[in-house]
Amino acid sequence: MASQVLVAANRGPLSYAIADDGMLSARRGGGGLVSGLSAALAQQPDAVWICAALSDADREAVRRGVAEPGVRMLDIDPTVYDGAYNGIANSVLWFTHHHLYDIPREPVFDAAFRRHWASYTAYNQAFADALAEEAAEGACVLVQDYHLALVPGQLRELRPDLRIAHFTHTPWASKEFLHMLPDDVREQLVHGMLGADVVGFHTRAWADSFLDGAGRGNVAVFPLGVDADELRALAHRPQVDDKLAQLRAEVGDLKTIVRVDRTELSKNILRGLLAYRELLTVHPEWRGRVVHLASAYPSRQDLKVYRDYTESVRELAAAVNAEFGTADWQPVHVSVKDDFARSLAAYRMADVALVNPVRDGMNLVAKEIPVVSEAGCVLVLSTGAGAYEELRRDALTVNPYDVTETASALHAALSMPGGERAERTKRLAAAATALPPAAWFEAQLSALRP
Ligand code: F6P
Repeated sequence: MASQVLVAANRGPLSYAIADDGMLSARRGGGGLVSGLSAALAQQPDAVWICAALSDADREAVRRGVAEPGVRMLDIDPTVYDGAYNGIANSVLWFTHHHLYDIPREPVFDAAFRRHWASYTAYNQAFADALAEEAAEGACVLVQDYHLALVPGQLRELRPDLRIAHFTHTPWASKEFLHMLPDDVREQLVHGMLGADVVGFHTRAWADSFLDGAGRGNVAVFPLGVDADELRALAHRPQVDDKLAQLRAEVGDLKTIVRVDRTELSKNILRGLLAYRELLTVHPEWRGRVVHLASAYPSRQDLKVYRDYTESVRELAAAVNAEFGTADWQPVHVSVKDDFARSLAAYRMADVALVNPVRDGMNLVAKEIPVVSEAGCVLVLSTGAGAYEELRRDALTVNPYDVTETASALHAALSMPGGERAERTKRLAAAATALPPAAWFEAQLSALRP
């Protein structure tokens, strides 16, 4: 049956694993986009979610026809998928939108880039074809993220009757970075996005960047927030209570500075560790009285630059521990496992939350920790986070490159009196929950409907 509401995203709500005996098992897909969309779509029973098969196990699931109702996984040729996902989405578009290039060396647009761009175009076309097949007359289609920037234009060609929105979960590149792309590629990218009736972003700043680069477009701002009831329920499940007890046993009653990120270049984990080191150097009174809990779970390990970054995080954390640690105090606890229950337990015990990206679409962690922290937490937030726009009044804000300023903010956060900290946390939690996923999704549908 054709659908009235369709979503297209690289990742789906589920990913599969295959056991030695050939049995397939499903688990929830990872990442902020997936959790936001899953919550929103729970209220849209007839919606269809089109996603890519990400692994051999996913491809096997498609071939065996085991996909869940409401989900259509696309079995895209692995070489095409790799060129689109690693070659373009993660290595070019991610770096362009987050301004991550090491300019003396990158970017290089050569023959390999052109092959990857052809894969990216084919991968986008596969989504456009599937959407055109599944959509009812006049249906609303919500296309997600930089992976699928060409889809709105391609789909518009196939089905002019549809209402199409595109939502970008990352920042949008400044004009200077957008203009590093070869002219024809940049034009295809902008043309693809402008195929949408509405082009959505988390913040005004990213919407303005888009208008600046594209010169036109019907942009709208939908700042994704968190669902407080759902998040608190998740954070109080028995497995999270167990992790909390374990963490408490490790940390005792010392103060905690908590961060939770993918090991992602834009998250600025290294400068966060440098700031913590400077805190312990400049304010030795905190030695033995504070612990930095840093969850940096693996991400995009197919790319060497991410593997190297992960290694640098490990090395720097070990260096801080070697410099300041004592027989009964370990200053930094790094966890590189993707352990959602442990992350939620860390949220609950956070005295200080450190969210210092260089540039980030939203950074939902900045919204989640104040909602879940038990004793109230002080948020140290960089100007690079999308969440800065909504949370800056009640956070301690820092320039992400200024390690000394970040160290001072950590000191101020650890020293803040309980009353002020509780008041700020209450206001942060209110701002964080202003547009929970279901309302965020509805707002986009309303903007699409005539
Ligand atoms: O905002 C970008 C985003 O799509 C997030 O929603 C998500 O957390 C992350 O990137 C996922 O990256 P990947 O799918 O490459 O692991």
